[in-house]
Amino acid sequence: MTELVLTHTGQLDPAVRAAARELLDQVFDGELTDDDWEHCLGGMHALLWEGAELIGHAALIQRRMLHNGRALRTGYVEGVGVRASARRRGHGAALMAAVERLARNAYELAALGSTEEATAFYAGRGWRPWLGPTSALTPAGIVRTEEEDGGIYVLPLSAELDIQGELVCDWRDGDAW
Ligand SMILES: CC(C)(COP(=O)(O)OP(=O)(O)OC[C@H]1O[C@@H](n2cnc3c(N)ncnc32)[C@H](O)[C@@H]1OP(=O)(O)O)[C@@H](O)C(=O)NCCC(=O)NCCS
Repeated sequence: MTELVLTHTGQLDPAVRAAARELLDQVFDGELTDDDWEHCLGGMHALLWEGAELIGHAALIQRRMLHNGRALRTGYVEGVGVRASARRRGHGAALMAAVERLARNAYELAALGSTEEATAFYAGRGWRPWLGPTSALTPAGIVRTEEEDGGIYVLPLSAELDIQGELVCDWRDGDAW
Protein backbone atom coordinates (compact mmCIF):
# COMPACT_ATOMS: atom_id res chain seq x y z
CA MET A 1 0.00 0.00 0.00
CA THR A 2 1.37 3.39 -0.94
CA GLU A 3 0.20 6.80 0.21
CA LEU A 4 0.88 10.06 -1.58
CA VAL A 5 1.11 13.13 0.63
CA LEU A 6 1.28 16.74 -0.55
CA THR A 7 2.82 19.24 1.82
CA HIS A 8 4.57 22.61 1.86
CA THR A 9 8.21 22.82 2.94
CA GLY A 10 7.03 24.89 5.90
CA GLN A 11 4.94 21.99 7.14
CA LEU A 12 7.58 19.28 6.76
CA ASP A 13 8.48 17.48 9.93
CA PRO A 14 12.32 17.64 10.35
CA ALA A 15 12.55 13.84 10.21
CA VAL A 16 10.56 13.73 6.97
CA ARG A 17 12.68 16.52 5.51
CA ALA A 18 15.80 14.50 6.37
CA ALA A 19 14.24 11.36 4.85
CA ALA A 20 13.52 13.24 1.60
CA ARG A 21 17.11 14.46 1.37
CA GLU A 22 18.41 10.95 2.09
CA LEU A 23 16.14 9.45 -0.56
CA LEU A 24 17.39 11.94 -3.18
CA ASP A 25 21.00 11.32 -2.15
CA GLN A 26 20.43 7.64 -2.95
CA VAL A 27 18.42 8.24 -6.10
CA PHE A 28 21.09 10.55 -7.55
CA ASP A 29 23.99 8.29 -6.43
CA GLY A 30 25.45 10.84 -4.04
CA GLU A 31 25.61 13.57 -6.69
CA LEU A 32 22.85 15.76 -5.24
CA THR A 33 24.58 18.96 -4.07
CA ASP A 34 23.43 21.14 -1.20
CA ASP A 35 22.32 23.68 -3.82
CA ASP A 36 20.32 20.99 -5.65
CA TRP A 37 18.56 20.16 -2.40
CA GLU A 38 18.00 23.84 -1.59
CA HIS A 39 16.30 24.16 -4.98
CA CYS A 40 13.68 21.66 -3.78
CA LEU A 41 12.68 23.87 -0.85
CA GLY A 42 10.15 26.64 -0.44
CA GLY A 43 7.22 25.14 -2.32
CA MET A 44 5.22 21.94 -2.36
CA HIS A 45 6.50 18.40 -1.95
CA ALA A 46 4.82 15.26 -3.20
CA LEU A 47 5.91 12.42 -0.92
CA LEU A 48 5.22 8.79 -1.66
CA TRP A 49 5.20 6.47 1.32
CA GLU A 50 5.21 2.69 1.39
CA GLY A 51 4.38 2.07 5.03
CA ALA A 52 6.97 4.00 7.02
CA GLU A 53 9.42 4.12 4.09
CA LEU A 54 9.65 7.13 1.82
CA ILE A 55 10.01 5.71 -1.71
CA GLY A 56 9.40 8.76 -3.91
CA HIS A 57 9.64 12.53 -3.96
CA ALA A 58 8.93 15.46 -6.28
CA ALA A 59 8.97 19.19 -5.50
CA LEU A 60 7.22 22.10 -7.17
CA ILE A 61 8.61 25.56 -6.54
CA GLN A 62 7.77 28.96 -8.00
CA ARG A 63 10.15 30.68 -10.39
CA ARG A 64 9.88 33.42 -13.03
CA MET A 65 10.72 32.67 -16.65
CA LEU A 66 11.17 35.52 -19.10
CA HIS A 67 9.56 34.70 -22.43
CA ASN A 68 7.96 36.76 -25.16
CA GLY A 69 8.24 39.97 -23.13
CA ARG A 70 6.59 38.48 -20.04
CA ALA A 71 7.80 37.20 -16.66
CA LEU A 72 5.79 34.00 -16.50
CA ARG A 73 4.75 32.66 -13.11
CA THR A 74 6.26 29.23 -13.47
CA GLY A 75 5.98 26.04 -11.48
CA TYR A 76 9.42 24.44 -11.60
CA VAL A 77 9.74 20.75 -10.84
CA GLU A 78 12.73 19.63 -8.79
CA GLY A 79 14.00 16.54 -7.00
CA VAL A 80 11.98 13.90 -8.84
CA GLY A 81 13.08 10.47 -7.73
CA VAL A 82 11.82 7.00 -6.95
CA ARG A 83 13.84 4.50 -4.92
CA ALA A 84 15.64 2.22 -7.40
CA SER A 85 13.96 -0.94 -6.09
CA ALA A 86 10.48 0.58 -6.64
CA ARG A 87 10.80 1.84 -10.23
CA ARG A 88 8.58 1.02 -13.23
CA ARG A 89 5.56 0.51 -11.00
CA GLY A 90 3.87 3.84 -11.80
CA HIS A 91 5.15 5.70 -8.73
CA GLY A 92 7.00 8.36 -10.74
CA ALA A 93 3.86 8.91 -12.79
CA ALA A 94 1.77 9.30 -9.62
CA LEU A 95 4.20 11.88 -8.22
CA MET A 96 4.23 13.83 -11.48
CA ALA A 97 0.44 13.72 -11.79
CA ALA A 98 0.21 15.31 -8.34
CA VAL A 99 2.64 18.17 -9.05
CA GLU A 100 1.18 18.72 -12.54
CA ARG A 101 -2.28 19.12 -10.99
CA LEU A 102 -0.91 21.74 -8.60
CA ALA A 103 0.92 23.49 -11.45
CA ARG A 104 -2.17 23.64 -13.65
CA ASN A 105 -4.06 25.47 -10.93
CA ALA A 106 -1.24 27.74 -9.74
CA TYR A 107 1.00 28.63 -12.67
CA GLU A 108 1.05 29.83 -16.27
CA LEU A 109 3.84 27.46 -17.25
CA ALA A 110 5.54 24.41 -15.77
CA ALA A 111 9.19 23.63 -16.50
CA LEU A 112 12.02 21.34 -15.40
CA GLY A 113 15.56 20.35 -16.28
CA SER A 114 15.60 16.66 -17.16
CA THR A 115 18.29 14.10 -16.54
CA GLU A 116 19.16 12.11 -19.67
CA GLU A 117 17.55 8.97 -18.32
CA ALA A 118 14.23 10.69 -17.57
CA THR A 119 13.49 12.35 -20.92
CA ALA A 120 11.22 9.48 -22.12
CA PHE A 121 9.41 9.56 -18.78
CA TYR A 122 8.58 13.28 -19.13
CA ALA A 123 7.90 13.17 -22.88
CA GLY A 124 5.42 10.35 -22.28
CA ARG A 125 3.51 12.67 -19.95
CA GLY A 126 3.17 15.48 -22.48
CA TRP A 127 6.21 17.51 -21.45
CA ARG A 128 7.97 19.01 -24.46
CA PRO A 129 11.65 19.82 -24.87
CA TRP A 130 12.22 23.56 -25.21
CA LEU A 131 13.54 24.05 -28.74
CA GLY A 132 14.83 27.62 -28.50
CA PRO A 133 17.88 29.03 -26.71
CA THR A 134 17.93 28.98 -22.91
CA SER A 135 19.51 31.67 -20.73
CA ALA A 136 19.62 32.82 -17.11
CA LEU A 137 18.99 36.29 -15.71
CA THR A 138 22.23 36.58 -13.73
CA PRO A 139 23.36 39.54 -11.57
CA ALA A 140 25.49 40.53 -14.60
CA GLY A 141 22.57 40.37 -17.03
CA ILE A 142 21.15 37.69 -19.31
CA VAL A 143 23.70 34.93 -19.97
CA ARG A 144 23.19 32.01 -22.35
CA THR A 145 23.11 28.53 -20.84
CA GLU A 146 23.95 26.54 -24.01
CA GLU A 147 24.81 23.45 -22.00
CA GLU A 148 21.15 23.25 -20.93
CA ASP A 149 19.66 23.62 -24.42
CA GLY A 150 17.56 20.57 -25.27
CA GLY A 151 17.38 19.41 -21.64
CA ILE A 152 14.70 21.83 -20.47
CA TYR A 153 11.17 20.48 -20.66
CA VAL A 154 7.98 22.48 -20.39
CA LEU A 155 4.36 21.61 -19.82
CA PRO A 156 2.36 24.26 -21.64
CA LEU A 157 -0.39 25.64 -19.41
CA SER A 158 -2.16 28.97 -19.94
CA ALA A 159 0.80 31.02 -21.21
CA GLU A 160 1.20 31.57 -24.92
CA LEU A 161 4.51 30.00 -25.91
CA ASP A 162 6.83 30.16 -28.86
CA ILE A 163 8.76 26.99 -28.12
CA GLN A 164 11.49 28.01 -30.59
CA GLY A 165 11.94 31.36 -28.82
CA GLU A 166 14.19 32.37 -25.94
CA LEU A 167 13.48 31.16 -22.41
CA VAL A 168 15.27 32.91 -19.54
CA CYS A 169 15.19 31.59 -15.98
CA ASP A 170 15.58 33.63 -12.81
CA TRP A 171 18.83 33.51 -10.83
CA ARG A 172 19.87 31.26 -7.95
CA ASP A 173 22.99 29.67 -6.46
CA GLY A 174 24.04 26.33 -7.96
CA ASP A 175 22.65 25.18 -11.30
CA ALA A 176 20.47 27.91 -12.80
CA TRP A 177 18.14 25.36 -14.44
C1 LIG B 1 12.58 8.94 -13.66
C2 LIG B 1 11.96 8.17 -12.49
C3 LIG B 1 11.47 9.15 -11.43
C4 LIG B 1 10.74 7.37 -13.03
O1 LIG B 1 10.11 6.75 -11.92
P1 LIG B 1 9.26 5.39 -12.09
O2 LIG B 1 8.49 5.19 -10.84
O3 LIG B 1 10.14 4.30 -12.54
O4 LIG B 1 8.31 5.81 -13.30
P2 LIG B 1 6.95 5.09 -13.76
O5 LIG B 1 6.94 3.65 -13.34
O6 LIG B 1 5.81 5.92 -13.29
O7 LIG B 1 7.09 5.21 -15.34
C5 LIG B 1 6.05 5.73 -16.13
C6 LIG B 1 6.45 5.62 -17.59
O8 LIG B 1 7.56 6.49 -17.84
C7 LIG B 1 8.42 5.85 -18.80
N1 LIG B 1 9.71 5.56 -18.15
C8 LIG B 1 9.99 5.56 -16.83
N2 LIG B 1 11.30 5.28 -16.63
C9 LIG B 1 11.84 5.10 -17.85
C10 LIG B 1 13.14 4.79 -18.29
N3 LIG B 1 14.16 4.63 -17.43
N4 LIG B 1 13.34 4.67 -19.62
C11 LIG B 1 12.33 4.84 -20.50
N5 LIG B 1 11.07 5.13 -20.13
C12 LIG B 1 10.83 5.27 -18.83
C13 LIG B 1 7.73 4.56 -19.23
O9 LIG B 1 6.90 4.87 -20.31
C14 LIG B 1 6.92 4.25 -18.01
O10 LIG B 1 5.80 3.46 -18.27
P3 LIG B 1 5.97 1.84 -18.37
O11 LIG B 1 6.75 1.39 -17.18
O12 LIG B 1 4.55 1.36 -18.39
O13 LIG B 1 6.72 1.59 -19.64
C15 LIG B 1 12.97 7.15 -11.88
O14 LIG B 1 13.48 6.36 -12.93
C16 LIG B 1 14.11 7.79 -11.12
O15 LIG B 1 13.99 8.09 -9.93
N6 LIG B 1 15.27 7.98 -11.83
C17 LIG B 1 16.48 8.51 -11.22
C18 LIG B 1 16.36 9.97 -10.88
C19 LIG B 1 16.01 10.84 -12.07
O16 LIG B 1 16.60 10.78 -13.15
N7 LIG B 1 15.02 11.70 -11.84
C20 LIG B 1 14.58 12.67 -12.82
C21 LIG B 1 15.18 13.99 -12.45
S1 LIG B 1 14.89 15.20 -13.71
